[in-house]
Formats: sequence, structure tokens, C-alpha cells
Amino acid sequence: MSHTTPARRVSARLAAIQESATLAVDAKAKALKAAGRPVIGFGAGEPDFPTPDFVVEAAVEAARDPKNHKYTPAKGLPELRQAIAEKTKRDSGIDVDPNNILVTNGGKQAVFQAFAAIVDEGDDVLLPAPYWTTYPEVIRLCGGQPIEVFAGADQEYKVNVEQLDAALTPATKALLLCSPSNPTGAVYSPEEIREIGQWALAHGLWVITDEIYEHLTYGAPMSYILAEVPELTDQTIVLNGVAKTYAMTGWRVGWMYGPTDVIKAATNMQSHATSNVANVTQRAAIAALSGSQEIVAHMREAFDRRRKKIVEMLREIPGLLVPEPQGAFYVYPNVEALLGKEINGQVAHTSGELAALILDQAEVAVVPGEAFGSPGYIRLSYALSDKDLVEGITRLQKLLS
Ligand SMILES: Cc1ncc(COP(=O)(O)O)c(C=O)c1O
Repeated sequence: MSHTTPARRVSARLAAIQESATLAVDAKAKALKAAGRPVIGFGAGEPDFPTPDFVVEAAVEAARDPKNHKYTPAKGLPELRQAIAEKTKRDSGIDVDPNNILVTNGGKQAVFQAFAAIVDEGDDVLLPAPYWTTYPEVIRLCGGQPIEVFAGADQEYKVNVEQLDAALTPATKALLLCSPSNPTGAVYSPEEIREIGQWALAHGLWVITDEIYEHLTYGAPMSYILAEVPELTDQTIVLNGVAKTYAMTGWRVGWMYGPTDVIKAATNMQSHATSNVANVTQRAAIAALSGSQEIVAHMREAFDRRRKKIVEMLREIPGLLVPEPQGAFYVYPNVEALLGKEINGQVAHTSGELAALILDQAEVAVVPGEAFGSPGYIRLSYALSDKDLVEGITRLQKLLS
């Protein structure tokens, strides 16, 4: 068979990857909007706020400075790695050597490089579900196998040690944790994190912990696994970024920190893949992390207000089961009661079909649970304006009630 026949043109490895469902929903909503349809998007996981002025100013200044016009170390500007180390101490109380920090093109590159650094062909990775749509794709791309451990609304979307134990095999290499969670908004308590951390320690597993929503918790405390179980330091990779905390999704700055060998391996990979993150955005990130954190509290207040409103309004729709999210900016209702029923002349049999029906009939974009390994649910981001939120959910109420 020729290597240009259709079956062989794209590698099996990449052909197996699905498009990011969340980005796809967002792109479809934006395209409909551009075509003049009044679509309200609950799809994208990005704050509606502009990036704070003082951060933008730092970037403008950096753009004018010729020293930022050149290649810099692939690992990240020393000043930014220092700022991340200080921020880590300030927020989680953890001491990290700036040399063990790698600045990445968004949290996504950190996710990718973390798995690439520790997963070999045939390794199993424990993946609590519902999960963020990128994790299983990256695990598979690295030759590993995601082992889903499901926790539904009845257990507040949080896995426990008994479930992890049942999924453990000799091939298990790592455990992924994401708290506050995308897509569910669940936040693990310090006790829960400690118990899981001690379990991972006892079994010699790697822990990859995604802390990108650390500042978006509403009453529930944020718990850091390395603060709860410091003995895990040599087998834990922490992922983070400025996107969600500082309304900087488009700037593309994230980071990972962990043991020296892992950071070195990931830096080597990045040095071939993308080199340094744009210097101007790294300078903007320094301003965000080192400047006044008041803006963070201000945005959190707005998200909290929207969180309460969206939960209250969604709960008025008969059949929807709406656990109250404790963090991030997502709500994750169970919609199974609506499946198979007639809705305005149409019937949806899956949450995927329901999301399509909602977009078609109410011009409201939501992401179906299929994208997160849990059909029967939908995810709504409440990082949109109060006005759009009320208008969008009012449309849902009219359609579904
Ligand atoms: C759980 C989680 N981790 C990481 C990221 C990556 O964020 P970014 O690449 O924009 O920094 C996201 C973005 O949606 C996320 O939800």
C-alpha cells in the first residue's frame, strides 16, 4: 500500500485524536453569532473580563524594549520563574526552586509535557471522570491508557480511595487530579486530598495535579496536595497558569514544576517544540503574579454571584439535577430526565443531541457531557456577563419547562 493512500496519510497516533469538543462548541457558537444569530455561549471556559490594565501596560512596555525581541531561555525568563516561586510560596506555602519551574505556552502545554515526561507505552493513568476533555487525548498520545474512575453527582463528582484502589493495576503509573474541577466545579477538601495523596504515596504513583483554578473557590478552601502530603514532592508535577485567574486566556502563559529530572526532560522537549514563550507575555505574567491581587478577588466575587444565579435558575427547570459547584466557573447538571422526551417537537436521546437541540432551538451553546467522559450531563460555563447569563438561562427555561 502506498504511504499516500488515504488510510496512511495521517498517522494512526494523530488520527485517533478528537477535536477539542469545548473549542468546537465555542467555534460553532461564534460562527452562528457572526452569521447574525443571537447565540449566547455557555461553552467556552474563559472569563469575560478584559485582562487587567496594569498587566496590559507591562506588556506594552515590554514590547518596546529590544531585549524582549530576541530568543530567551526555553525554560522561561528567570524573573518569571522567580515570580512563580514567590507566588507558589504565597498561595500554597510550598517552597519551589525556580530551577524546577518550566514556563509553558499556556497550561495546555504543561499538561502535554507533564504526561510526555513520565508516561511510557503501556502505562495506565488513573483519570477521575468527569474529566477535562484534553487529558485522555494527551495520555493516549503519549502511549498511555487513561483508566477512568467515575464519580457522579451522588458523590459530588469526587473520587475516593476505594474507587482508586479498585482501578489500580501493576501498569498504573500516575494519577491525575484537577481541583477545582473542570468540568464539574467540584473542590476536594484538605482531608480528601490528604487521603488520596497518602494513597498515591503508598503505591509509588506519580501525581499530576492541575491547579489552574486555584483562586476560584467559593467558600470551600483550596487544598494543595504538596502542602497536605509533602512526602510526594519527588513524584508530583504541579500544573498552573495565568489564564483563568487573571483573565489572560489569549496570552498563553502556563507553567509546571516538579522534580529536577522531569523538568529537565520537559524543558528538552519544549526546546525542540516551541522554545521560549513570547517574552512580552512572560513580562505580562510577571506583572500579573507580582502586582496587586485585588483584581482576582473582584473577579471571584462576580463569578460567585453568577454561580448562585445560574444554579438557582437551572434548578427551576423540572428534571434537571443541579449540584452546587464549589469552584472554577462551571456548573454540571445531570439532564438524563430530559432524554427521550419531546421538546418543542424534537426528541434528544443523548446529551450530545440535547446540546444540539438547545443550540438549534434556543440559540444557547452548552457542552455535552460526552466531551468529559460522562454522557447524560451538560456543562455550562458561567464566565459570561450577568445579563447574558440571565437571558440564556431564561431561554433554556422556556424551551425545557
Ligand atoms: C483544567 C484545565 N487545565 C488547563 C487548562 C489550560 O489552560 P490554558 O492553556 O489556557 O492556560 C484549562 C483550560 O481550559 C483547564 O480547564
